[in-house]
Amino acid sequence: MSAQNIYDDPTFLAGYVTLDRQVDGLDGAAEWPLLRSMLPDMAGRRVVDLGCGFGWFSRWADEHGAVSVLGIDLSTKMLERARSDTTSATIDYQCADLDLVELDPDTAELVFSSLTLHDVRDLHRLWSQVAGSLTPGGSVVFSVEHPIYSAPTTQRFETSEAGDRVWPLDNYLVEGQRVRTWFVDGVVKEHRTVATYVNTVLEAGLVLDRIEEFGPPAEDVDARPELADDRHRPWFLLVGATKPA
Ligand SMILES: C[S@@+](CC[C@H](N)C(=O)[O-])C[C@H]1O[C@@H](n2cnc3c(N)ncnc32)[C@H](O)[C@@H]1O
Repeated sequence: MSAQNIYDDPTFLAGYVTLDRQVDGLDGAAEWPLLRSMLPDMAGRRVVDLGCGFGWFSRWADEHGAVSVLGIDLSTKMLERARSDTTSATIDYQCADLDLVELDPDTAELVFSSLTLHDVRDLHRLWSQVAGSLTPGGSVVFSVEHPIYSAPTTQRFETSEAGDRVWPLDNYLVEGQRVRTWFVDGVVKEHRTVATYVNTVLEAGLVLDRIEEFGPPAEDVDARPELADDRHRPWFLLVGATKPA
């Protein structure tokens, strides 16, 4: 099964670049403070950034002391921009499909991935590559669209007869592809349960450190009332794990 390379679609990309997180980078990503709190100290680490996109995290890791960073992405357009925004010689970008990539064994102390693994078809294979690439004691930190968010047939709040706002969760246990409209029609994402995300990590021999379910905090809703519905279900699942020493 080949990966969908929607980020090379000019219409999709024209919409994607307008997102806060692509205009302002990590500071424009609401979950970044939480994700950052799950990361180890970058100093001296060799870092791999799976689905690096424009390279925001790759550059942050480099600026915070990583000795090398390898950013991997399928999209030549994302990598073009990542390369043009990067001056550090210790960051390398590679064009590869995470469903096929071969990672060199024992070469990384941190494997990071932000909002990409829900695009990967074969997570078992990827975790086995990741676990092999980590040195003992090395870490994995990743975020994905939360499964409660990714599951429904219709990703849209409804109002119940009682007047409550409701996220119509259905098909949660039915794993597999969801075809969405996101800037363009036909964007394919893989829905998996929370248990599958956690168990695929454990089956690769990693030890779970932390799991978080991110949605906008109450203070953000006070400042931006249009986010009120988003307190009903999380946006993202965040996971941290370690390869035993
Ligand atoms: C939502 S973007 C996230 C980019 C970046 N991690 C960030 O948080 O800004 C997802 C990225 O994953 C890449 N991607 C999707 N499927 C992929 C695959 N099978 N192999 C490699 N990269 C993939 C896309 O090209 C895109 O750059």
